[in-house]
Amino acid sequence: MTTRHAHIVGWGKAVPERVLTNDDLSQMVDTSDEWIRTRTGIGERRIAGDDETTLTLSLRAARQALERAGLNPAHLDLIIVATVTPEHNFPATACLVQDGLGATNAAAFDLSAGCTGFVYGLSVAADLIAGGNYDTALVIGAETLSRITDWNDRATCVLFGDGAGAVVLQGSEAKGGVLATILGADGSGGDLLKLPAGGSREPASHRTVAEGRHYLQMRGREVFRFAVRKMPAATRQVLERAGEDLESLDLLIPHQANQRIIQSATRGLKIPPEKVFSNLERYGNTSSASIPIALCEAVEQGRVQRDDLVVCVGFGAGLTWGAAAIRWSVPLPPERPPRRVQFWQEMRYRYAALRSLVRRLLRRLLSLGVRE
Ligand code: ACO
Repeated sequence: MTTRHAHIVGWGKAVPERVLTNDDLSQMVDTSDEWIRTRTGIGERRIAGDDETTLTLSLRAARQALERAGLNPAHLDLIIVATVTPEHNFPATACLVQDGLGATNAAAFDLSAGCTGFVYGLSVAADLIAGGNYDTALVIGAETLSRITDWNDRATCVLFGDGAGAVVLQGSEAKGGVLATILGADGSGGDLLKLPAGGSREPASHRTVAEGRHYLQMRGREVFRFAVRKMPAATRQVLERAGEDLESLDLLIPHQANQRIIQSATRGLKIPPEKVFSNLERYGNTSSASIPIALCEAVEQGRVQRDDLVVCVGFGAGLTWGAAAIRWSVPLPPERPPRRVQFWQEMRYRYAALRSLVRRLLRRLLSLGVRE
């Protein structure tokens, strides 16, 4: 069997329009622009409007990624949504994305690995593609953290924001793409960053709501220490696994949680600041959306060029950490099947998309009928 390599062929992002500045926050809790900037590097963040959810942001990012890849949703055979703020506990947000896109040929599931979720998703999708059973995967990192933030807790509410980022991965015999990934977890640190209630341990009740147990809780200092230890180690490990070294690195895209964490991690690795991407100032920490949004902006700004070596590295709730080394390979060398095969493939995709549209229309009509 020939070796398949997973290449990123499309990328997209979606952030809400509403901006919440540090000055806005200083009207809500006892904080200041100066404290937030010096301790975190964050200047403002985006907050979902009433009609925006993890699903709507996911769909916007996914459509942009598919458009850039020049692919139809029916080409997808796998959808992974990494999130800690899913649309519902179940069904999986990925299934709702599958339906919303009309991606009728795709398997779909959610993945929860805190802020490392996108790197976990990328790793799983790349390995499934390399295994040969899947060919075209959509990996989304999406969050509406504003919905689980305690807006009276100044220690956490200044940190987080909402958004989504997506990539389309496609298998090819051409070398490059996702070269290597490493994933790690230490569940003994689970209490450092968690959403206590709403699961089987503490089902929703008047008490859990009254005590604010549906809000994210964090022991910031410990998470900080964990992050500055794990980010450099994961970066070194993934480069070693890819057979590369720090000197060959063109761009590091770290999880955007705190500028001091990023600086401390990259100083230890002796990576110059111009090789480190940061958009934390504008978005805050968007958890599993942070790396794909940053990757998307890095490409849009021309900071990633063909054949560049890019490392994405993250840490988060779980505790988890992970890194992916990517040889940027867009545009891919053409690898098209014969014309006759292409024609029948296209027909199959169009038929599947039409079938999905009809099914959704019927479902809508039936639900209208039931309501009347
Ligand atoms: N404004 C003003 N003062 C504040 C604020 C605020 N927003 N928040 C805390 N303080 C105060 C504290 O009360 C404390 O006061 P005290 O000394 O009188 O007790 C003082 O500032 C220092 O507090 P620390 O918690 O020690 O501040 P620190 O320098 O550690 O910064 C921070 C806190 C920014 C949270 C930092 O610890 C951090 O970034 N940790 C990592 C968090 C992180 O990355 N989390 C995301 C994980 S990813 C995921 O999966 C979601």
